[in-house]
Amino acid sequence: MIVTGGASGIGLATAKRLGSEGARVVLADFNQANLDKAVPEVRAAGAPDVLPSLCNVADEAQVAATVQATLDKFGRLDVVVNNAGLMQFKPLEELTGADWLRILNVDLLGAFYFTKQAFLHMKPGGAVVNVASIHAIATEALVAPYAAAKAAMLSLTRSAAIEGGPKGIRSNAVLPGAVDTPMLWDNPNVKSGVEKINPSDVGKPEDIAAAIAYLASDDAAFVQGTELRVDGGRLDHL
Ligand SMILES: NC(=O)c1ccc[n+]([C@@H]2O[C@H](COP(=O)([O-])OP(=O)(O)OC[C@H]3O[C@@H](n4cnc5c(N)ncnc54)[C@H](O)[C@@H]3O)[C@@H](O)[C@H]2O)c1
Repeated sequence: MIVTGGASGIGLATAKRLGSEGARVVLADFNQANLDKAVPEVRAAGAPDVLPSLCNVADEAQVAATVQATLDKFGRLDVVVNNAGLMQFKPLEELTGADWLRILNVDLLGAFYFTKQAFLHMKPGGAVVNVASIHAIATEALVAPYAAAKAAMLSLTRSAAIEGGPKGIRSNAVLPGAVDTPMLWDNPNVKSGVEKINPSDVGKPEDIAAAIAYLASDDAAFVQGTELRVDGGRLDHL
């Protein structure tokens, strides 16, 4: 399996969870220092083999190279978890086209490039899991490109479910709420109090990893194109 953004947070928890269940894991991330730290952690969690792959998911050639390295080492690709993500905080009147493209290239096109590779190389029974966000459904000020990219990721999931079905490849999305990772606490909206986080609404990376593990597994053999909200009920509050 390949997990993008696998060197930190939800991606690392997912790599450990699937590794503990016997998956041979490829960690695709563009942060070499975090990759170096993550590899022994994933091994210690029980993964039989771990391949770190320095990869910027926004670069199609690097994505293709990561998939080729996976096939060269493990001979197959069963699961892709599109988890790498990035946020930027600016009011609409200050955002530039370049800002939008930077976010869309990582949060949307990165998932597309890996889905394309999955469709080229996966055998029937394969699964793609996209890590979107509750921002795909309800959002706040200053994160327009991120919210748009995550909403579009749900549309990509639907398209991939439709086109992947006949190939025996399932595509589904997880929509995390607030999760205790560096991305949450680095969020200026959270730091400033504009986005209020009730401690009971904060989940653990392992909570999201469990949902991803389910969607990637044969237990979800009849689950195709679904959007699984994993937010402790946060979106339901008045
Ligand atoms: N933490 C939350 O509250 C939360 C909520 C909803 C959705 N999410 C989503 O979960 C995913 C993981 O977030 P996290 O909270 O674990 O964040 P994180 O910052 O802990 O980890 C993100 C990882 O992605 C990697 N990454 C970023 N851009 C990359 C690129 N271009 N190429 C390769 N790797 C790249 C980073 O190096 C890092 O290792 C993201 O898609 C995020 O949008 C997080």
